[in-house]
Amino acid sequence: MRKKVTVVGAGNVGATLAQRLAEMEMCDVVVVDIPQVEGMPAGKALDLMESGPILGYDSRVSGTTSYEATAGSDVVVITAGIPRKPGMSRDDLLKTNAGIVKSVTENVVRFSPDSVLIIVSNPLDAMCLVALKTSKFPKHRVLGMAGILDSSRMRSFICEALEVSVENVHAMVLGGHGDTMVPLPRFSTVNGIPITELLPQDKIAAINQRTRDGGAEIVKLLKTGSAFYAPSASAAEMVEAVLKDKKKILPCAAYLEGEYGVDGVFVGVPCKLGARGLEQIVQLNLSAEERAQLLKSATAVKQLAAALK
Ligand code: LAC
Repeated sequence: MRKKVTVVGAGNVGATLAQRLAEMEMCDVVVVDIPQVEGMPAGKALDLMESGPILGYDSRVSGTTSYEATAGSDVVVITAGIPRKPGMSRDDLLKTNAGIVKSVTENVVRFSPDSVLIIVSNPLDAMCLVALKTSKFPKHRVLGMAGILDSSRMRSFICEALEVSVENVHAMVLGGHGDTMVPLPRFSTVNGIPITELLPQDKIAAINQRTRDGGAEIVKLLKTGSAFYAPSASAAEMVEAVLKDKKKILPCAAYLEGEYGVDGVFVGVPCKLGARGLEQIVQLNLSAEERAQLLKSATAVKQLAAALK
C-alpha cells in the first residue's frame, strides 16, 4: 500500500507541496482546507490527478474540507495560516495563526494519531510548540520546516557568488526562523571546502544578511503572499526523509530539552530524519560567537512563545 500524506492548507505552499509529492510519486496525497473554500482543494487535487497521465505518476491526490479523508496519514504537513504582507514580520502572524494551527492539529490527531507532524505555518518555531502541546505527541513526531529553506537560500547565494554548481554547495542555518536566524559559514561548504576558505569576510557577511532577509525579500517582490516554491521543496525533502527512512541530516526546528543549552522551545538544529521522525539531534561544536547567536535566537523564540500565554 502506498504511504499517505496529508497537506493541511491548499494555498500556494500546500498546493505546490502536493504537486511535488505527487511528482516524486512517493505517496498518496490528501489536501485539506477550511469549509469556506469548499471545492477549491478538490479542484486543485483533480487538476493534479489529470496531470498524472502526462507526467507518469500514479500517486492519488484528493482534496477535501473534511478531516475524515485524512485518516491514517503517515505524515501530516501543516501549512495553514495567513501569510505575511509587505512590511510584516513573521511574528506579526502569531495570534491568528496560533488559533488556526491549534484547531488544525486537533482535527489531524483525531484521525492520524500515529503521524509525524511537519509544521510550516509561521511564526514557525512558535507554531511548532502549539502543535506539540495540542497534539500531545512525543517530540520526535513534531518537527518544523525552516532550516532547509533558509539553508537553501544561503546555498543559492553561495552558488551565485562563487559561480559553482548547486550540487556542490551545502549550508547550515540554525536558530529560529526569523531575523535572528544563525547562518553558519564554517559549516557551509563547497564540496567539503568551508566557504570561509573561498570568500572574503565582507562577502560572507552579505550572504548571511541576505539569507536572514530571504523571506522578506520575496514578500516585498510578490506584494501578495510569501514564498512557496522553496518552502514546498523544503517540506517535500523532510517528507521524503521520513517516508523513505533516509536518516538524512537536515536543519529542522526541533523541541530542545537542554541541547545547545536551550530548554522548552523549538529552535532550528541539525536533525537526523527517518521513519520515526526526529531520530537524533546533532550537537555541533560551536564557537563562542556562534553559540551566543544561537542562544540569542532561542531567547527571541522563547519571548514569542511566552506572548502566546
Ligand atoms: C519564508 C516564509 C515562508 O521564509 O517563512 O519565505
